[in-house]
Amino acid sequence: MNKAVVYCSQTGFTEKYATWLAEDLGCRAVAYAGRSSVDVEALDVLVFCSWFHAATIKGATWVKQVMARHPAMHVIVLATGATPPPASGWSSEGEIEQAFRRTFPKAEYPNLPHFYCHGGFDLDRLGVADRVAMRLFFRMLGKSAQGDQKAGEMLDIMRKGFDGTSREYLRPVLEHIADLESAEGAAGEPGAESAASAVSEPGAAGRARGSCEPGRAGKASEVRKTC
Ligand SMILES: Cc1cc2nc3c(=O)[nH]c(=O)nc-3n(C[C@H](O)[C@H](O)[C@H](O)COP(=O)(O)O)c2cc1C
Repeated sequence: MNKAVVYCSQTGFTEKYATWLAEDLGCRAVAYAGRSSVDVEALDVLVFCSWFHAATIKGATWVKQVMARHPAMHVIVLATGATPPPASGWSSEGEIEQAFRRTFPKAEYPNLPHFYCHGGFDLDRLGVADRVAMRLFFRMLGKSAQGDQKAGEMLDIMRKGFDGTSREYLRPVLEHIADLESAEGAAGEPGAESAASAVSEPGAAGRARGSCEPGRAGKASEVRKTC
């Protein structure tokens, strides 16, 4: 299957996931600014990676257009955020799902595969507008923190900055893609390889098949200018 990863990233955490994924899938990770270089017509699988910005997912308009134009393509959305994932006990599956559904309402995208991966936070790498917005948010959080221990802890973590990324979070995404490949293989393509197996062997899957566009990670300079 022909695959590509397109990502939006301002401070680099989503880019990290996109790069890992592309390595594991043996395909390109293309920054949003370079999305026109992707031959969308030729894709079977598109993984769109982006980040939560005030509870909506950046750059979603483009991927919605792609889905509308290519209804048969397998589109997968991976979103990162500063919110610790449900497994940590900080958030619930319901909260993450609710946030996802603000951008991709269930009524319109009932079968869109989507995954949440813990991102990070780095105030110094934000653009000016977002840095101002976050300072205001910190002030609000500071007020809530007086009666809310969780808000206080969150504020401390975000002020210091953190990197919550882990390659392990990609396992369900890779398993999902492996399932797609197995289904495709069963439908007539011999030798479908498990992408999930590549979690422990980065870069192994996909390349041998030669069906992916060659690996080329987007440049960080491109990233800063975009979503
Ligand atoms: C203005 C702003 C709003 C944000 N809103 C959310 C949010 O609603 N939920 C969340 O979990 N994280 C939120 N974040 C945190 C980012 O999603 C997180 O830092 C993400 O990993 C950044 O990805 P990037 O490094 O690829 O740009 C926000 C960050 C900024 C700067």
